Amino acid sequence: MWGGRFSARPDALMQAINVSISFDKRLAGQDIAGSKAHAAMLAKTGVISSEAEAQIQSGLDAIAAEMAAGTFPFRDEFEDIHMNVEARLREMIGPVAGRLHTARSRNDQVALDFRLWVREACDRSAAQLVALQTVLVTRAEAHADTLMPGFTHLQPAQPVTFGHHLMAYVEMFGRDASRFRDARARMNESPLGAAALAGSPFPVDRQMTAKALGFDRPTANSLDSVSARDFALEALSAASICATHLSRLAEEIVIWMTPQFGFIKLGDAFTTGSSIMPQKKNPDAAELVRAKVGRILGSLTSLTVVMKGLPLAYSKDMQEDKVPVFEAFDALELSLLAMAGMVADLEPNIEKMAAAAGAGFSTATDLADWLVRTLDLPFRDAHHITGAAVKRAEQLGVDLAGLPLAELQALNQGIGEDIFKVLTPAASAASRVSYGGTAPSQVRAQIKRWKETLS
Ligand code: ARG
Repeated sequence: MWGGRFSARPDALMQAINVSISFDKRLAGQDIAGSKAHAAMLAKTGVISSEAEAQIQSGLDAIAAEMAAGTFPFRDEFEDIHMNVEARLREMIGPVAGRLHTARSRNDQVALDFRLWVREACDRSAAQLVALQTVLVTRAEAHADTLMPGFTHLQPAQPVTFGHHLMAYVEMFGRDASRFRDARARMNESPLGAAALAGSPFPVDRQMTAKALGFDRPTANSLDSVSARDFALEALSAASICATHLSRLAEEIVIWMTPQFGFIKLGDAFTTGSSIMPQKKNPDAAELVRAKVGRILGSLTSLTVVMKGLPLAYSKDMQEDKVPVFEAFDALELSLLAMAGMVADLEPNIEKMAAAAGAGFSTATDLADWLVRTLDLPFRDAHHITGAAVKRAEQLGVDLAGLPLAELQALNQGIGEDIFKVLTPAASAASRVSYGGTAPSQVRAQIKRWKETLS
């Protein structure tokens, strides 16, 4: 490509460190789309003839067909995807291929291709998040009444419903999807036409190419156009946050599946056995989803460090932007799909969850609230009395509902028989009717709202 200036071939090591086709071949579709839009614009503005454009367009179509058929020759000697496509175009249509690169540089070309790729990755991730949310909502609806312990500090806190717990993740994944949509809206400006860094002396129509490629507008500063990678950093940030949410649900699946908890069963589809211990069923998929955040957050760190301190405009450092982004989104998309599969597959053990929901004096707050509401005690006094009741129940080896009324009345004379109505996990959950609370009525209202949003 630069034989005019150079007379010697690059050292083998130079080629080894410089070549990027092994990974940027993933930009092939974006590269061809960008070139087709550019060629159409060059013809429309009279920079190239319509005959030249027609030849270039049909050559690019033929290349796209080769790529679809898997016959396109990706060659290291042409370094990257941009020069591979251009070299192939020349083999196909001859020297007129050389007109395509008028008013363009690989700097705006790669900025464009990469932005298109990241934009699509954000769209795919948002769609997969919606699919995951849909599965969660379906399971939540079936289990809006299924009791389970709610935890703080992983200690039994108050009874909740399994549906409510699943819907907490629907909220998280909803914010994750909206982060990808926000990132998309901000990145949706076309850098094409910025050329190497300073813009172009040709009468390029940047509005036209921006529109053809689905962008809202062209970028407004040519230096920024070829230097900016914050769109990728932002997408990786959104991916990292999403991956942390996935890891929390994955961890809960791992915990729930232990025989000690026994809250859920996963089928054979998302588990593995052990080569030595025949009894084992391991939640490998959940563990791997839990682990992927390492790779994804690592990608964000990697690209942040690559970009830090880079002077304007383009530097070859930026070729290192692609691998972390590809790796992160491969990991994220696989995690989202696997998680949707696991959530659809898991079977809760309703009896075991309900039994656990009442363990650990989980309705102690209900007792205290009853004292406040019925006897008009200050909450702090009610808390104290309830603490004493828990202590006494522990001594007697019973739960709160198993305490004789006389024991409770020894703590406060005003306590009557109807206290026992609030001490069951079901009553406890059903009483929490505040907006967003765990009462099945509230959970169903949130499910209804999400079903409308997701459809
Ligand atoms: N393969 C390069 C990259 O990924 C394309 C841009 C090269 N530009 C340059 N001035 N060498 O960044």
